Amino acid sequence: MDIKNTFNIEGFQNDLIAWFQLEQRTLPWRENKDPYRIWVSEVMLQQTRVDTVIPYFHAFMEKFPTVDALADADEEEILKAWEGLGYYSRVRNLQAAVREVKERYNSIVPIEPDEFAGLKGVGPYTRGAVMSIAYNIPEPAVDGNVMRVISRILAIDEDIAKPKARKVFEEAIRIMISKKNPSDFNQALMELGALICIPATPSCLLCPVQEYCEAFQTGTQKEYPVKSKKSKPKPVRMAAAVLTDKEGNYYINKRNPTGLLANLWEFPNCEIIPGTAAKAQLEEYLKEEYSLRASLDTVEGVISHVFSHIKWEISVFTGLVDETSGNNLKKVTEEEMQRYAFPVSHQKISRLIADSDA
Ligand code: ADE
Repeated sequence: MDIKNTFNIEGFQNDLIAWFQLEQRTLPWRENKDPYRIWVSEVMLQQTRVDTVIPYFHAFMEKFPTVDALADADEEEILKAWEGLGYYSRVRNLQAAVREVKERYNSIVPIEPDEFAGLKGVGPYTRGAVMSIAYNIPEPAVDGNVMRVISRILAIDEDIAKPKARKVFEEAIRIMISKKNPSDFNQALMELGALICIPATPSCLLCPVQEYCEAFQTGTQKEYPVKSKKSKPKPVRMAAAVLTDKEGNYYINKRNPTGLLANLWEFPNCEIIPGTAAKAQLEEYLKEEYSLRASLDTVEGVISHVFSHIKWEISVFTGLVDETSGNNLKKVTEEEMQRYAFPVSHQKISRLIADSDA
């Protein structure tokens, strides 16, 4: 790429940063440059929208205000604080990483990019975002929004759905980034992507860097970024049981420590072989897996939940537990159940049952 000779880098940096300094949103992680706060915010902001993140961020900082507080917390408690944000391995990795910061780096987030990137869960984006925003180190921080902005400015037609695209954008940003103020430069790219250079209908007439933008100059802004379509999530049929006993206790299960939704709690459930009766299969599964006998009622409803690659379609049953034989589910009162972290799909199950009880 020939950015250095054909592109007014200094003009671009100055106009972009000046705009950011005037127009940036007031956001809780912009109150100061505490690297721990910025790190937490950047982990939350991966895969999750700003509006959704804000209340979680406040609550998380209240509960775990420092590296040490998060390092010393129970996993149950951090999962509960993350409940509903999705991609739960993010917070498990974050805790493993801050534990290493506490033990190896005296609770100070490393200022060496390679040391920081050696921590659990810290990929190229988190590395660049935290190092630049908190420590003002000129490292690129390339996420989907930044790829959209830069693809338009430089008319880059790499397919941004392909993992190798990120490197192309990182190389461009290494050249373009302000060495004086990498913190504002990177945040300005993110802010431009959020406020002006938005996906379908960019507000080019309000853009502070339109004069530098190749796509705007040629009227092709809507042709960028090039992004191939992902395949549709594959439907998976499931059945779940909301089990109670005569005293009104609930019976819940802790998921495996690895894989999808690791260590979260759930109503016991199984996958249904298409063409097989869901209720009979679920009863059989409860017996095999948990030595639990229950007579299930008719189906209460079906909830669906989409992940990136699969779509769960869960038929929900209620049932009364036969307490004469033991079982290996966890028995909790309704109030105790509130303390455990459930995935959104299983919160939907709770709500379905609550609504049909009402
Ligand atoms: N998206 C990712 N990081 C962000 C940040 N620091 N501010 C706003 N939006 C973001």
